[in-house]
Amino acid sequence: MSDHREVGVLFVCLGNICRSPSAEGIFRHCVENSNLQLKVKIDSAGTANYHSGDPPDSRAISVAATRGIDLNNLRARQVRRSDFQQFDYIIAMDRHNYSDLISLAPRDHRCRIQLFLDFTDNWSEREIPDPYYGGPQGFERAFDMITDASNGLIKDIKKNFEMIE
Ligand code: 4NP
Repeated sequence: MSDHREVGVLFVCLGNICRSPSAEGIFRHCVENSNLQLKVKIDSAGTANYHSGDPPDSRAISVAATRGIDLNNLRARQVRRSDFQQFDYIIAMDRHNYSDLISLAPRDHRCRIQLFLDFTDNWSEREIPDPYYGGPQGFERAFDMITDASNGLIKDIKKNFEMIE
């Protein structure tokens, strides 16, 4: 678990090549453009290991690039039990990821395990749909959802962590 001068955020999807690396890049960009005083450790992982070591999907890289975000250097990895000791927030993209995380979590963990869209009221859905099998519009929409949720998460971090010395 991070000490109070640093907050750790881990984004989780199934493959760690579409939604969660996009969330890692977008959230990092939002933090850099925010007035958050804390240091934030940001990472992403997949519940599955099919793509471990792979860069993000080329469609995610392209859509990110149009928004000034570079995902090229990210590499997929699988979630591990030690993540529950090292991150304050573990953020699931959909309910399937969420229930896999709850099953994997050590009993004494102290992370906030939450759906990413819990941090925004701008969408009627609660889940970020998997864009892997669709066209580029799915990636655009996922990016818009992730951007809104990132700004909501920054507000949550400010509320819960910035008051602590
Ligand atoms: P992600 O998308 O969970 O957003 O990274 C997927 C990527 C790959 C697969 C499924 C979802 N796959 O089945 O290989």
